[in-house]
Amino acid sequence: MHTFIEKLKVERFARIYSEEDSLLVGKGGYISPDPTLWEDVLLSISLQKPVLLKGPAGSGKTKLAESVSAYFRQPMHSINCSVDLDAESLLGFKTIVQKDGETVIEFVEGPVVKAMKEGHLLYIDEINMAKAETLPILHSVLDYRRMLTNPFTGEVIQAHPHFNVLSAINEGYIGTAPMNEALKNRFISYSIPYLAGEQLRGLWEQAFPDAPHALKELMYNLAEDLKLQVQHGLLSEEAASIRSLLDATELAQYIEPIRAIRYAIAEKLDDVGERELVMELAKTWVK
Ligand SMILES: Nc1ncnc2c1ncn2[C@@H]1O[C@H](COP(=O)(O)OP(=O)(O)O)[C@@H](O)[C@H]1O
Ligand SMILES: [Mg+2]
Repeated sequence: MHTFIEKLKVERFARIYSEEDSLLVGKGGYISPDPTLWEDVLLSISLQKPVLLKGPAGSGKTKLAESVSAYFRQPMHSINCSVDLDAESLLGFKTIVQKDGETVIEFVEGPVVKAMKEGHLLYIDEINMAKAETLPILHSVLDYRRMLTNPFTGEVIQAHPHFNVLSAINEGYIGTAPMNEALKNRFISYSIPYLAGEQLRGLWEQAFPDAPHALKELMYNLAEDLKLQVQHGLLSEEAASIRSLLDATELAQYIEPIRAIRYAIAEKLDDVGERELVMELAKTWVK
């Protein structure tokens, strides 16, 4: 690890958080698909550059963000984008409270304001699912200015030096718009691939240390097969989702693997032909 990153880690580790904030520190466990990706993401964070993780569902984007939070032992706030996301869900809202018998208006800080002030991490999931009008509010937060004028209070907020943003996007996924250029421009972007080969094996060992070896091999082989079919264009990308494969492995500790694969992988696919292909592939590995 680069000494520059190590130095900032020590600095961040020295901070003391409230019990509530400590609960927001991620668990870690991300396995880097190549020798440099993990460290390169940490470098962006160390340089206060917003990070954009691009990859298919279940490729470990959230796991990676959680692992950054764990690495720096830094609380992380998450935002799930949808068309309903508005300025209030990002920044916070005004509310009426009773104080010493008087009615006063208070501002309840949302995840962006909180993370900026406290120097926490902010994880914005599926950033391209948000309405185009909503996110420009973040432009000044995401570039070198690192500041925000809160439209609800007029407060000018300069971000804490440890504050940073990670975003995730599933490019090309149905229902998502392409990401706005001005927004995309503010991020350092990383493609997040599905794990393969020995690392994929390692993930199964990490997730199910006590599961039967044969079951882990079965799921590992199926994972490689599914990925190949995705590359050939015969299956949609979700078919090779590691999340689904891990779910199948978990179920298969209690029921026949073939049923587990059906429920956790095949049934999620919209296309009948794809569902059948998954089951055909599965049958070649189940003894
Ligand atoms: N590279 C990886 N390292 C560790 N775990 C991974 C990795 N890729 C996928 N996973 C596991 O697969 C599941 C889905 O990962 P997740 O981060 O939720 O995917 P995404 O956010 O990209 O949809 C989780 O259980 C996660 O631990
Ligand atoms: Mg995710």
